[in-house]
Amino acid sequence: MTDRYCVFGNPISHSKSPLIHAAFAEQTGEAIEYTAIAAPLDDFTGAWHRFTAEAGRGANVTVPFKEEAFRLCDTLSERARRAGAVNTLVLGKNALTYGDTTDGVGLVRDLEHHGVTLEGARILVLGAGGAVRGVLEPLLAGQPRYVVIANRTAAKAAALAQDFADLGEVRGGGFETLDGPFDLVINGTSASLSGELPPLPDALFAPHATAYDMMYGAEPTVFLRWAAARGARTLDGLGMLVEQAAESFFQWRGKRPDTGPVRERLRRAL
Ligand code: ATR
Repeated sequence: MTDRYCVFGNPISHSKSPLIHAAFAEQTGEAIEYTAIAAPLDDFTGAWHRFTAEAGRGANVTVPFKEEAFRLCDTLSERARRAGAVNTLVLGKNALTYGDTTDGVGLVRDLEHHGVTLEGARILVLGAGGAVRGVLEPLLAGQPRYVVIANRTAAKAAALAQDFADLGEVRGGGFETLDGPFDLVINGTSASLSGELPPLPDALFAPHATAYDMMYGAEPTVFLRWAAARGARTLDGLGMLVEQAAESFFQWRGKRPDTGPVRERLRRAL
């Protein structure tokens, strides 16, 4: 029976993951099946176990199941432990479930791909929810000068910074006390979804700064339009999506797909 993989979410019908993994499988000659499955909101764990009983070997996990996936794992990567969330499940040969999170490494690979240097950079991260928690470890591993986390609810940013303080220079607070300039500003709030912009000061960007939105769409997000008008180079989260998928694929199949052509194909289809 063909090895099966899937992405679990709810809702999930708009996921691009089946398309991305089909392209990776074709490229690497791996015979796998990859589908999108809407897990019941009250029984994600059951959905995973049913899947593994029917040749399921691994899965991606998206909203709203990343924390429940984290809880069901038998073993976890260090970065997943830090993130408190899992986006990649792997069924081990011993039938134990291993959990990893590839979102952060996906972001860092996409930044590298676009020539953005983390080492020595002054980085601002907007937001303090699950999306941001998931990328802090790989960002700090790039040895930036410092990372500032700014959030609408300042206390959440401060607490998050505290959780990662052993990995580097990181501090958190509200938007009102923000003090630039920054070389890299990453929007990890969900404000883009509703077309809103956090209250940001005009003098945020250093010369040659990059603005990155973890969201993407056919049109630039409000945040990216705002950043472009202030002279920053802008990047959206489409590349992060493809890179996190590639890292999951590597966890499952031990092969690294070439992400460039897949990214271009998705961009054209937006
Ligand atoms: P996710 O898993 O996408 O990170 P989350 O954990 O609900 O989702 O976090 C959403 C983040 O977006 C939070 O940092 C939230 O700020 P609060 O902690 O103050 O709620 C932020 N956010 C959502 N809507 C926002 C808006 N309109 N302006 C600014 N920040 C917003």
